[in-house]
Amino acid sequence: MPSYRNVALAMFLTLHGALGFGLRTSSLASSASLRRTMSKATTTAIYSTAEATESEKKTPIKNEEAYNKVKMEDIVSLCKRRGIIFPSSEIYNGFAGFFDYGPLGSELKKNVKDNFWRHFVQRREDVVGIDSSIIHNPTTWQSSGHLDGFSDPMVDCKETKLRYRADQLFCAPVTVEECGTTVGFVCVLEANDEDMVKAAKKQAKKLLKESDRKGQAIQPFAFKDLTQVSEEEMGQIPSPGSGKPTLTMPRDFNLMFQTNVGAMQDGSSVAYLRPETAQGIFINYKNVIGTSRQKLPFGIAQIGKAFRNEITPRNFIFRSREFEQMEIEYFIPPGDDVWQPFHEKWIADSKAFLETVGLREDLMGYDVHEGDGLAHYARACTDITFKFPFGEQELMGIAARGNFDLTSHTEGSGKTLDYFDEETKEKFIPHVIEPSLGVDRLILALICSAYAEDEVNGEKRNYLSFHPSIAPVKVSVLPLVKNKEPLVKAARELFEKLQMRWNVQWDQTGAIGRRYRRADEIGVPFCVTVDFETIEDDGAVTIRDRDTTEQVRIPMDEVVPYLSKMIDGY
Ligand code: GAP
Repeated sequence: MPSYRNVALAMFLTLHGALGFGLRTSSLASSASLRRTMSKATTTAIYSTAEATESEKKTPIKNEEAYNKVKMEDIVSLCKRRGIIFPSSEIYNGFAGFFDYGPLGSELKKNVKDNFWRHFVQRREDVVGIDSSIIHNPTTWQSSGHLDGFSDPMVDCKETKLRYRADQLFCAPVTVEECGTTVGFVCVLEANDEDMVKAAKKQAKKLLKESDRKGQAIQPFAFKDLTQVSEEEMGQIPSPGSGKPTLTMPRDFNLMFQTNVGAMQDGSSVAYLRPETAQGIFINYKNVIGTSRQKLPFGIAQIGKAFRNEITPRNFIFRSREFEQMEIEYFIPPGDDVWQPFHEKWIADSKAFLETVGLREDLMGYDVHEGDGLAHYARACTDITFKFPFGEQELMGIAARGNFDLTSHTEGSGKTLDYFDEETKEKFIPHVIEPSLGVDRLILALICSAYAEDEVNGEKRNYLSFHPSIAPVKVSVLPLVKNKEPLVKAARELFEKLQMRWNVQWDQTGAIGRRYRRADEIGVPFCVTVDFETIEDDGAVTIRDRDTTEQVRIPMDEVVPYLSKMIDGY
């Protein structure tokens, strides 16, 4: 069973003290704020344009302040307004758990996946890629354990017919402080600590009023999720739908989407949309070994769609029913003393990758799975977490899976998925380290991370400080005026030249300050302005940096090398 299902979210919140995740062992990484990791370009400024330097003075970025205030609704609305992400099938009132990426979102997504691929596949000699089919022979899922075990605990509301994930509903008795009498139960959906307590207090107030104890003090809430309640307790827990005790006991719900392959619609044609890309790697292990001349240790990477019939898709693209994963299976020799250094190295490499694409380090943390939180076959699993506006949650998992998968597929297929070590002349089934990251979840984290606010010219500015390597639009080319033909021609020539390398935009409408704001809002890292001096005097242009709003003036023929260094780092 994939490890993430086993993370016990037994969360005990109290009104007193730190309202924290009780069982978490995560610690927040050092608070050094992550900004650009890119080296500064070497081209020197000739001079700054008068218009720009005088009008554009900025205060330090108030990213943290802006982020602390931000709500998920703000992020969702920004994504829709700017063409990053839309609800799927919106003209038909949407479809829960599915999303569409718009013009900017599809660029952002492509950049994120390209960065991952370059970082982990192309720039390493020990990792190769594959692109397997989404639908595998269904026996794959029998062997992997998904058919029997890939499920979430679900409860139904008998009255409203609404369905909830039992491990995402938290209940607590409402006990009067003075006399210790329990007047009922509250039941709230998982959210950040503050919101959960707020919702619970509201329900408790009602219960106190109903039992003629209005205003009396109550004991702190001791929350537990609904997988941990007895039948007797369930008989008193109000359903979030009906407000009455109408919930069933939890039962398992398999998350795999089923389909039929071929003309027959009977049991013999049943197949599944893959719930993870990992199994496509394991079933191709022998093909890759036989064709790529890789020697242990080596990895196979895959990026692609995965589908899970989530009971409660929540928090925008954080948990959806159709999403993409970027996964690596890194095969290593067996042995109790072998896997740990590899596991640690992959945790460090994964964190380093997240930093290179601009994820704020101060918002990242670790969650080390231990005991019950660990899948039965796993040696270890560490999640890299991110502080989303709805709480600190898993962003990426790095698991040491032993030889569970290759052994299961050996048994299921009858084909031995082993490795022959030419030096020791030994044959064995390799063990594996699995870094696994959701593309969409990373995109949400990157948007949150980039959400920034400051003041320019005494005016509030909201912008997205995307790292240039993932920014959907890299450069905005701005001719100072649109009615001077030689100026527009020079700008257009530059625009077309830049188009050969990057996704760039042309903007000739409105005052230059307004055009800067438009570019800032969608996270364009550089604006290039072509002005009268460009054509009449120095043949140079002004390049403005989004985050610092500083401007440099450089010759036309140095624009590409300059931007190349700033965007691609070389
Ligand atoms: N092969 C291991 C595996 O699939 P997982 O923890 O179930 O492990 C790995 O998923 C990553 O995929 C998660 O850390 C998350 O980033 C992403 N992910 C999982 N379920 C998701 C969902 N319903 N929506 C969006 N991303 C999801």
